[in-house]
Amino acid sequence: MTSRAPVETCVLNDDAPWNEFDPSAYLDQNYRDLLDVDAEILSLVRDHFSDHFSARTDHVERPILGIDIGAGANLYPALAMLPWCDRITLFERAPRNVGYLRQQRDSLDPDWDAFWKVLSERDPYADIDGERNERFRKTVRVQKGNLFKLGRRGLLGLRNTQGKWQMGTMFFVAESISTSHDEFREAIECFMLSLAPGAPFAAAFMEGSHGYDVGNRHFPACDVDEAEVRKSLDEFTGEIETKRLGEVSHMVRPGHTGIILAYGKRNQGPRS
Ligand SMILES: C[S@@+](CC[C@H](N)C(=O)[O-])C[C@H]1O[C@@H](n2cnc3c(N)ncnc32)[C@H](O)[C@@H]1O
Repeated sequence: MTSRAPVETCVLNDDAPWNEFDPSAYLDQNYRDLLDVDAEILSLVRDHFSDHFSARTDHVERPILGIDIGAGANLYPALAMLPWCDRITLFERAPRNVGYLRQQRDSLDPDWDAFWKVLSERDPYADIDGERNERFRKTVRVQKGNLFKLGRRGLLGLRNTQGKWQMGTMFFVAESISTSHDEFREAIECFMLSLAPGAPFAAAFMEGSHGYDVGNRHFPACDVDEAEVRKSLDEFTGEIETKRLGEVSHMVRPGHTGIILAYGKRNQGPRS
């Protein structure tokens, strides 16, 4: 009898059970306590954004609009953008995640204090320490939507989201919403096209993931490595760094082989 390798079924973004994504189960699995890997990511992103804006304080254009795409139940990318943004859009598809984000905007859970502590090791964050929650409430807007519609030039300027945001983040999204490599690349394209020329960005990816469970539901993922992440981002970026966090202490979330962090600046040439 010949044995065959298991055939992985293709699960596209529209096929996954986003209506049943449970933010509380996701938080329990990932963000109730600050993990070493998240502390490391936070400090890299904090330094990237701080260095970017301190290098150009004399001519920062206002207003600065930030976006976190596929925010889910993770507030640390938004907190990392808070010192500079006049508005932060938390863009999310799953209804219960949208509910969680709206509730957090009004009353930020103390669970996020440990994440903020890492950020507040640098001045722009420490400077707003006392007003953090109020600033978060005033700055954050939660928008329900599908990221595959972002970054497009709208008809007659309507719904034009191309180059709309001056800084952006997308954490564990492009590779964790579908098994399709085409959709992975398309998600990256939508993210990058939604950013203005020169916008600083940070994006995180699970490496080698074959899907993940949240509560009792399974969600699809696409198996990517650092080379594929870099190749997909390259055409949209002026400056880019990628880091693979692959130590054993980084494998705390099951079903992947490491984490890839990419950060840099959007290049100058928005495409149609
Ligand atoms: C693995 S979670 C990552 C959540 C969060 N960014 C984090 O860092 O933990 C993937 C997120 O993408 C959202 N998502 C899935 N498809 C989407 C789409 N087409 N548009 C916007 N968000 C989407 C999911 O609802 C979920 O919140």
